Amino acid sequence: MSNYNSEEIIDLDRKHLWHHMTQHKAFESNAPMVITEGKGLIVKDLNGREFLDACSGGVWCVNVGYGDERMINAINDQMKKMPYYAGVAGNIPAIEFAGKISSLTGLDKVYFSNSGSEANEKAYKMIRQYNRQKYPDIDKYKILYRKRDYHGTTIAALSSTGQEQRKEKYGPFVEGFVEFPHACCYRCDFNKTYPGCDIDCARVVEKIVLEEGPDTVGAVIVEPITAGGGVIPPVKEYYEILQEICKKYDLKLIMDEVVCGFGRTGKMFGYEHYGVKPDIVTMAKGMASSYMPLSGTVVSEEIFNVFKQDGDDPLSYFRDISTYGGSAAACRAGLESTKIVEEDKLVENAAQMGSYLLEKLNEFRDHPNVGDVRGKGLLAGIELVEDKASKTPMDEKKFLGVIGNIGKQGVLVGRTNRSFKNMNNVMNLAPALIVTKEEIDKIVTSIKNGLDSLK
Ligand SMILES: Cc1ncc(COP(=O)(O)O)c(C=O)c1O
Repeated sequence: MSNYNSEEIIDLDRKHLWHHMTQHKAFESNAPMVITEGKGLIVKDLNGREFLDACSGGVWCVNVGYGDERMINAINDQMKKMPYYAGVAGNIPAIEFAGKISSLTGLDKVYFSNSGSEANEKAYKMIRQYNRQKYPDIDKYKILYRKRDYHGTTIAALSSTGQEQRKEKYGPFVEGFVEFPHACCYRCDFNKTYPGCDIDCARVVEKIVLEEGPDTVGAVIVEPITAGGGVIPPVKEYYEILQEICKKYDLKLIMDEVVCGFGRTGKMFGYEHYGVKPDIVTMAKGMASSYMPLSGTVVSEEIFNVFKQDGDDPLSYFRDISTYGGSAAACRAGLESTKIVEEDKLVENAAQMGSYLLEKLNEFRDHPNVGDVRGKGLLAGIELVEDKASKTPMDEKKFLGVIGNIGKQGVLVGRTNRSFKNMNNVMNLAPALIVTKEEIDKIVTSIKNGLDSLK
């Protein structure tokens, strides 16, 4: 409960709260949005207005939906028992959740932290140290990342992000991160058409490894399905090719499952669609359905063992710390969220409802401003263009008008947000994994009306 009335809250917000990803000049004429309650997929704002949240908390993360009593009770119970002790010691939920994650991924060791950015930072530090301890005579420190992928906001995570507008004004970036082409067929960098293309976007990685020098490259990081960069599922052969290149040059494959993990795409992890086995998996967001902040960097025994030594080197273990990482209450939230996903068959629901959603969205392909419809499971994107022939991305103001129109109908959808110059034109959908057919119908109808407002 708050001690302030609505006007005072808005006043305080304007005065003191720095919102994420927001130009605050707009708040001089408009009131900031304040979300006060949530149940299922519905959120309520300060004025009591209800919205259907089609993007799981705005950034694809409240996977089991709002207000799930089982989550609240589990966290409450753990809070009473023991909310926190530093990660140098084990705690029961962290131990159990690490075991669960291991059984889900087939990997062996879980290093907990607090955010997706942090999970990726840990992966980069592990790769550098692993290679320096395993191959002391060379320096396999570089990490290759893909254009359009996002790996986080901290400086190294941003250095490995393939979105030029997100990076603008924040350089200089960390040395040792090298970009390779995106995997978006709709805007193929090689001017080819799948399936007659030989998947050049994956094969080109070998050329880049050779140019950089294989002895200098330690890993490749990818989102299994690019999320914020425009919802891009690579074609089915893509990751087998990428994994072969990794094996040939002794590179670790890091899958950033921060968005895709824990059921979002209709499989427990996004890479499962592609029949590959990563060496490192990073995860956050839906991992604890965002009831508590939690992330993880999950590695194979082979990687972990390089840090476990009897030798004389006092610096051989992973000298990393994350004060809140793996707190007991957060891990209990992760355990409970995963239990709900399994018991309520939410991965299956994501697959079924995801197919229905994509089927409905594909009906918009005839609209003159719909360039492409992409997705897998409950992760979908619609790319809006000025006209189909030129594929000119829709003007951003016009695009925001469509998003605003959908919002006015009481549905909150996501979008590419200051990621690319003149190409922030993909509408994102990622409803909670509990979504029903009726809720999808409501989302689709509001998008249809939004698109019709362009005519
Ligand atoms: C794929 C991916 N990786 C990493 C991150 C960073 O996560 P966080 O914002 O929790 O640091 C995000 C955030 O959107 C993401 O989409």
